[in-house]
Amino acid sequence: MTDSPALAAAPSVAVIVVAAGSGSRLGHVEPKAFVLLQMRPLLDRALDSIFAMREAVQVIVVAPIDRLMDARRIAASVSARHEAPDTTTPPPPSPAATSTSIAAPPSRTVTIIEGGRTRQDSVDRGMSALMPSIDIVLVHDAARALTPAVLCDEVVAAVRSTGHGIIPGLPLVDTIKRIAHSGAILGTVDRSELSAVQTPQGFPRSMLADAHARAAQNGRLEAHTDDAALVADAGLPVSVIAGHPLAFKITTPEDLERAEAILHAATASPTPAWHLPRIGTGLDVHSFATDATTELWLAGLYWPGERGLSGHSDGDVVAHAICDAILGAAGLGDIGSVFGTADPRFTDAHGEIFLTETVRLVAAAGYLIGNVSVQIIGNRPRFSPRRGEAETLLAGILLAPVNIAATTTDALGFTGRGEGVAATATALLYPAPRAGRSVGQPAAPAPLPEPGQTPDLNWEA
Ligand code: CTP
Ligand code: MG
Repeated sequence: MTDSPALAAAPSVAVIVVAAGSGSRLGHVEPKAFVLLQMRPLLDRALDSIFAMREAVQVIVVAPIDRLMDARRIAASVSARHEAPDTTTPPPPSPAATSTSIAAPPSRTVTIIEGGRTRQDSVDRGMSALMPSIDIVLVHDAARALTPAVLCDEVVAAVRSTGHGIIPGLPLVDTIKRIAHSGAILGTVDRSELSAVQTPQGFPRSMLADAHARAAQNGRLEAHTDDAALVADAGLPVSVIAGHPLAFKITTPEDLERAEAILHAATASPTPAWHLPRIGTGLDVHSFATDATTELWLAGLYWPGERGLSGHSDGDVVAHAICDAILGAAGLGDIGSVFGTADPRFTDAHGEIFLTETVRLVAAAGYLIGNVSVQIIGNRPRFSPRRGEAETLLAGILLAPVNIAATTTDALGFTGRGEGVAATATALLYPAPRAGRSVGQPAAPAPLPEPGQTPDLNWEA
């Protein structure tokens, strides 16, 4: 629909993924889109399908205000999974094929937006972020986490060919009765006229924008539970195409069980990974600062009179190695990808800031820390006199036992020459138990640390 050569590379399709609801019927501590489904948040799984669509799209994720950073991290990790294989190096010659060409995946532009009080508010906010090149808009519930990409492609194709609003729907299989409040049956509804509708719902951009503007003007925005109703209410055409059984919405705990069962059946393994504890390792190195006034911070402690380590933050190699070990064990990336190595908010930040946020993130991902073991490698400072102090401090932050060993390298290497300090860490995590689940079922997120324990990092999208 966009045929300007100047905009040839810009996407003409946007998908607004609404993920800002609380999930009250699911009953988890965290918002529904961040609840884990076989170790990955629902939002991660929903975005996986969007990133697998055939054409370039703008992806707009609408998330709760206090989850914007988490949404961005999830989108970044989905994006990394879908990145093009490196085609700069020619593939090795294969006897079966004389040349191999790998199609690069279509480009994705991701925008993270703060959600509203109702679903329609959230859609409205998402529309405010549409790129000028967009002329077809899909609205999709993050809660429909298993929706196949092909359904999204089919909705786009149908909007393009008809110029109508298009929604996927499934025929009803049960007999439907109209009943009175008392429960008395008033009649049987002709189910051949009914469709259980799903998302993504797709519309020409102008149609959706007009319908939203009109409903907002008439104060009827909240009278509709989906965008099709809103567009139809504005007198604009909307048609139903065949939906997909996997596009069901996860609303209740039973829906989540169903999704887990589907995934489990698809990846049937005798020892599902969620049974197991998980380990991670971390390594960090910082050189001694050339400025003799730089303070030394190591293992969360200030070391008066010792030369400090250089670095963007306070250079605490112990804290940083522990963060990498814990994040790695939880499959959440590493300290650079989570906190940003050049982020000005972390200039001179002490290890405690990173560690506290790391604990919060792994708790939200459904893990508790079993223990952490650290090895410091360096000539200075002499660590043993303060070992107990450091272990107690770090154990208090991580809410788990911490052991710290220190060694020199017999004058060998950069630590032996006194150029810097290194630390390695190993962390063991285990799935947080959840009431009402038997052993062997996926971990549920643990209660988050008390608000006072979590520093306000003022994340912004
Ligand atoms: N949604 C949203 N903003 C809101 C409310 C809902 O973005 N203010 C999103 C949800 O995140 C979900 C989709 O709309 O992906 C469908 O809504 P629903 O299944 O009702 O989710 P919740 O409102 O989160 O759940 P509940 O109604 O049980 O609280
Ligand atoms: Mg709701």
